[in-house]
Amino acid sequence: MKTVPSRQNASEVPILKIDNLTVFRSGKLVLKGINLSINKGEFVGLVGPNGSGKSTLLLSIVGVLKPQKGNIKVYDYAPLSRNLHGKIGWVSQAAANLPQDTRITVRELVHLGTLNAKNLFSLSNKKRRKKVNLAIKMVGLQDFENMDVARLSGGQRQRAVIARALATEAEFILFDEPLVGMDRNSRNSLLKLLDKLCHDGGKTILMVSHDLTAIRQTAHRMIFLEETINFDGPAEDFPELEKLANLRGIHHVHGDDNNSDQTVEKEGKLW
Ligand SMILES: Nc1ncnc2c1ncn2[C@@H]1O[C@H](COP(=O)(O)OP(=O)(O)O)[C@@H](O)[C@H]1O
Ligand SMILES: [Mg+2]
Repeated sequence: MKTVPSRQNASEVPILKIDNLTVFRSGKLVLKGINLSINKGEFVGLVGPNGSGKSTLLLSIVGVLKPQKGNIKVYDYAPLSRNLHGKIGWVSQAAANLPQDTRITVRELVHLGTLNAKNLFSLSNKKRRKKVNLAIKMVGLQDFENMDVARLSGGQRQRAVIARALATEAEFILFDEPLVGMDRNSRNSLLKLLDKLCHDGGKTILMVSHDLTAIRQTAHRMIFLEETINFDGPAEDFPELEKLANLRGIHHVHGDDNNSDQTVEKEGKLW
C-alpha cells in the first residue's frame, strides 16, 4: 500500500491549540504537559490504555473540565466561548445509549442536529430537510430513517448519532469511541466517510478509538496518550503493538514525579 504524507490535505489553519495543559480530576493528576496543535482538515486518531486520559482531554477541549494549568484555544477562542457556538461537535459511545423508552425515529434524531440557537428560525425547512437527508445517506441509514432509534442495532444507533453530528454545522468534531458495537464493514465505511469529510468537506476530526488497526489505517495522524503525549506523528510511523511497550517506557523517562507508575497496567495489553 502506498504511504501518504501525513498532512497532505491539511491546511495551516489552526483549529486547536493546547499549551502545557495539566488536568486533575478529584485531586488525581490525569493529564500533564499536553502540547497539541491540530489544523483544519486533519483527521487525528487518539489512542492509549484505559484510564489514560483520552476522554478527559476531549472534555477539556469542549470546556466541560477546567484545566489546572495551561491553555486551550479552539479557533483562537477559549472553550465555551460564545464564538464557538455550533462549531464543535461531540459524539460519544454513550450518546447512542438512549433510554429504552425514548420514542424517536432516526430522521427525527438527525433533524435535532440541524437545530441550533442561531438558525432555529432562519433555516428553511427545505434546507433542513436536505441536510437531514444528506447526513442519513452519509451513514447509510436510508432504509431505517423512519424506524425508532431504540429498535436499531448498537452499530446502527451509533451511526444515527454520528449522522446527527454531521447534520450540525460543526466543523471540528470530537469522537469518543464511536465505533463500539459496529461490525468491521460498517466501521471501515464510516471511517472512510469521516476521512473524506476531512479531505473534501472542510471538517477536522479528533477521534478516540480502541480499534487501533482501523484508526491507524484511516487517520492521517496518530497520538498516543498516557497522562502525557508519548507519540504524535504520521499514522504510518505509529509503532507496532509490541513496540508500544517501549513507547510507554518513555513516559517514565520524561516523568518528573514518581506517581506515574501507578497508571501502568500489568496485564501486558494496551487495549
Ligand atoms: N469523574 C471523575 N472523577 C475523578 N476521576 C475521574 C473521573 N473520570 C475519570 N477519572 C479518572 O481519570 C483518569 C482518566 O480517565 P479517562 O479520561 O476517562 O480515561 P480514558 O478515556 O483514556 O479511558 C482515570 O484514572 C479515571 O479514573
Ligand atoms: Mg474514555
